[in-house]
Amino acid sequence: MLLRVVIIGAGGHAKVIIEAVRAQGGEVVGLVAQANDSAPVLGAPILGGDEVLPALRAQSLDAAIIAIGNNALRERLGRKAQSLGFALPHVVHPTAFLSPSARLGAGVVVMARAVVGTDTSVADLAIINTAAAVDHDNSIGLAAHIAPGCALAGTVRVGARALVGVGSALRPGIRVGADAIIGAGSTVVADVPDAAMVGGAPARPLRRRDSL
Ligand SMILES: CC(C)(COP(=O)(O)OP(=O)(O)OC[C@H]1O[C@@H](n2cnc3c(N)ncnc32)[C@H](O)[C@@H]1OP(=O)(O)O)[C@@H](O)C(=O)NCCC(=O)NCCS
Repeated sequence: MLLRVVIIGAGGHAKVIIEAVRAQGGEVVGLVAQANDSAPVLGAPILGGDEVLPALRAQSLDAAIIAIGNNALRERLGRKAQSLGFALPHVVHPTAFLSPSARLGAGVVVMARAVVGTDTSVADLAIINTAAAVDHDNSIGLAAHIAPGCALAGTVRVGARALVGVGSALRPGIRVGADAIIGAGSTVVADVPDAAMVGGAPARPLRRRDSL
């Protein structure tokens, strides 16, 4: 069980994590946020920016959760928190189902009603979001994000930092490359290369904007 955690991030994803931590019986001591955030979030105070992390660690606060939706940034902040001596515990909402043979890395979050199936592994800092179903023998990569309502059939492989957009379905055995983006509501019937952006049913390459 989580005892006392600091949450790094203060946006919508952080709100969902605060409630999941509390549902597990844990205590959110506060949030580390951007400089312009100051109002408490669901009753959890803002403790300051990244610069307060060493002082929090010195006060024997030793567990952090990275509540940042951007996959690359979440990976970076997770490594930074670990280098400062914070442990990255799992957050698993009590209504999620975890197979006894599933394996979760450090800092993984599994939201309400999600399923992590038989012999599936989820690497560090990945998100299995609300009501996503990740079936048997899947491998979910470092800091990947399986968005709400996705359905991954058996033996799917999702690469590091990939985003599987909300409500997408992936056929058995599909490989999704590192840093790939699968648009909302896609049906993925062919492997997705590293860093590709695809969408639709069946999913096809999408025009990628420089801003992404
Ligand atoms: C795929 C995605 C990242 C593209 O965003 P974007 O770069 O801002 O793209 P745009 O909205 O400018 O669309 C670019 C093109 O792709 C198409 N497109 C965008 N999203 C699409 C989708 N999900 N399925 C099919 N086509 C899509 C657009 O129609 C547009 O087509 P055009 O070139 O013919 O005009 C975004 O639409 C998306 O689906 N994100 C998923 C978000 C998500 O699930 N987050 C999880 C939150 S918990």
